Amino acid sequence: MAGILLTGANGQVGWEIARQARLLGLPCQALERTSLDITVADAVLRAVVHFAPLVVINAAAYTNVDKAETDSETAFSVNRDGAAHLAHACARVDIPIIHISTDYVFDGTKKTPYTEDDPGSPLSIYGESKLAGEAAVREYCAKHVVLRTAWVYGLHGPNFVKTMLRLAGERDQIKVVDDQFGNPTFAGDLGRAILTLVRRLQLGTWPKQGFGTFHLAGEWTTSWCGFAQMIFEEARPRLAHVPAIEPITTADYPTLAKRPAYSALDCGRFARIHGIAMRPGRSALSEMLDTTLGLFPAKGIRKF
Ligand SMILES: NC(=O)c1ccc[n+]([C@@H]2O[C@H](COP(=O)([O-])OP(=O)(O)OC[C@H]3O[C@@H](n4cnc5c(N)ncnc54)[C@H](OP(=O)(O)O)[C@@H]3O)[C@@H](O)[C@H]2O)c1
Repeated sequence: MAGILLTGANGQVGWEIARQARLLGLPCQALERTSLDITVADAVLRAVVHFAPLVVINAAAYTNVDKAETDSETAFSVNRDGAAHLAHACARVDIPIIHISTDYVFDGTKKTPYTEDDPGSPLSIYGESKLAGEAAVREYCAKHVVLRTAWVYGLHGPNFVKTMLRLAGERDQIKVVDDQFGNPTFAGDLGRAILTLVRRLQLGTWPKQGFGTFHLAGEWTTSWCGFAQMIFEEARPRLAHVPAIEPITTADYPTLAKRPAYSALDCGRFARIHGIAMRPGRSALSEMLDTTLGLFPAKGIRKF
């Protein structure tokens, strides 16, 4: 099969990659955790050898940022060791790996968007485990793309957009953190970009310097509160009820894990080398809402 071996196929990003690959007719062995647990080294190697893919895409991860604080063993087992097993297996059969990582590898103290050359300095166990996973991928597989993204929302699985839409049906007022800034990223756009890379591998049009570490996230930097405001602006005609938003601070909403105050990603390197840039945030959000809410005004309150 000269196609994709995809892990984490039931996650937000994995599901989107599998869906788009199907639409494009790209062979894709989309494996959920029940079919391939990436923490089991033997199983990973067997799968890579058996399917003999053109490329492995690792969309599997331990993504519960707060739970990771009290479950660091599992977080590291999936995010560091799982990534290492995959990279190792790819190197054994000499194929590339596309590995997804996160803006939470940064501490958020910088005042301008983070570039790939900025050193990681995570504030959380999740961030530490993801940074360790990146290092393992770089160490074991020379043909790697480590793709850091941020604040993902997609059609499949729980996310901030769906939470806001659900709360719109339940509350008159929502408090949202207004002092953490990042790049909301539509899983559909991420999926399209990743599959463009796969097509280039297939066609033999891989660019010089195409391997390495890259940032790829929505081109809009905002706070969670700003994101919520845009969600309701866009969704207003299709919602029966829109709540008021009250901006709050991180201190007003304590969580187990610390999150970076500012983790905007500079995606210039990916645009220069791979020629792919993300579209404006409003347009991506609009696509998500069109699909989730339908194209016409709602008559009643919907459940999400
Ligand atoms: N979500 C975000 O806001 C965000 C932001 C920045 C970066 N990222 C990165 O983007 C990537 C994809 O995230 P996502 O949002 O799609 O996360 P997600 O929806 O939580 O999906 C992760 C998937 O990984 C699977 N998984 C967990 N442990 C596994 C294991 N041991 N073996 C195989 N599969 C396993 C999960 O399986 P189950 O379905 O069985 O639980 C889940 O389907 C991750 O690398 C994440 O770090 C995400």
